Amino acid sequence: MRAVVYERYGPPEVLRLEDVERPIPADGEVLVKVHATTVNRFDTATRDANRRSGVAISLMSRLVSGVRRPRHRILGTEFAGEVEAVGVAVTEFAVGDKVFGTSGLAFGAHAEFIAMPASGRIARMPAEMSFEEAAPICDGALNALTCLKQADLKANRTILIYGASGAIGTAGVQLARYFGADVTAVCGTKNLELVRSLGADRVIDYTQKDFTKNGQTYNIIFDAVGKLSFTRCRGSLTLRGIFLPTDGLANLMWALVTPRLGGRTVLFQIPPRQTKQDVLFLKELIEAGKYRPVIDRRYPLEDVVQATRYVETEQKTGNVVLTITQD
Ligand SMILES: NC(=O)c1ccc[n+]([C@@H]2O[C@H](COP(=O)([O-])OP(=O)(O)OC[C@H]3O[C@@H](n4cnc5c(N)ncnc54)[C@H](OP(=O)(O)O)[C@@H]3O)[C@@H](O)[C@H]2O)c1
Repeated sequence: MRAVVYERYGPPEVLRLEDVERPIPADGEVLVKVHATTVNRFDTATRDANRRSGVAISLMSRLVSGVRRPRHRILGTEFAGEVEAVGVAVTEFAVGDKVFGTSGLAFGAHAEFIAMPASGRIARMPAEMSFEEAAPICDGALNALTCLKQADLKANRTILIYGASGAIGTAGVQLARYFGADVTAVCGTKNLELVRSLGADRVIDYTQKDFTKNGQTYNIIFDAVGKLSFTRCRGSLTLRGIFLPTDGLANLMWALVTPRLGGRTVLFQIPPRQTKQDVLFLKELIEAGKYRPVIDRRYPLEDVVQATRYVETEQKTGNVVLTITQD
């Protein structure tokens, strides 16, 4: 099968298309013929051994993905496709089912086929969705959902979502809206209308206004793009407010300390706990018209290097899809 492989950490150019062995599903696994996948920030950070985040985070990243060289040669976590074969113990799926999901730390989705445990984060695709639309359901939404669940987001609580136009941010706005929160979203000028259309009650353009200086306070501040620090936005939290980061070593340290002190708290779950139930929940939300993944650009698998370079600009709006076979 065709797959995008890499042998060493480095720039996008370490990725190349190659013919590799097709995986054989174990008894409890399904073999999925992948029609569409994505390039996300988890892929790019892993490929680069998280070098942009500093030496300490880079070392931690290598402990997970392989110290000297990558443990998994094929990147890609999200997929949408058709079940090609099932292991003898699988009862939930049958050949021909259209499915979507995420392989998480096991990666392997930048390929024509992926083997997934049937009990893992895989589900039948929502009705009326194309493979390209279904591929980016999981990454941003599962990351956002994990964070919002930690903060026990409820109706009428106030939340500020910073970086509301990224994969996590666009999902975060929709989920916070679904949970009934009062949502203030922060993004750049070009994405204001989009973010408003996703359900934000109000939007702030960070190129024009600094939300930390307007005197407003929030029950929760969710930094969906890894650009804030607890120290910078502490004054914009209510007395028992919660800061939810998605990146940053200092934030990780605050998450160890602040829950013991009372008052304003940083909550940061590493690794994030994401379950099959969460994936089924997203499918239900989509079918109820309450959530849709935002797609920015689509590239053919052959253009994975260009797609990766674009994701690394940190300017994508929502998600970037890689198409393996046309819908
Ligand atoms: N995706 C994952 O699997 C994953 C997993 C764990 C952690 N993370 C971390 O989560 C964060 C977000 O991931 P993501 O995939 O959602 O990001 P993303 O899609 O790459 O975010 C891109 C968006 O960020 C906005 N942005 C860029 N610089 C900004 C700034 N200085 N202030 C406010 N917004 C800014 C851009 O919007 P404008 O054009 O509006 O500026 C753009 O729309 C990253 O720090 C990443 O390391 C990601």
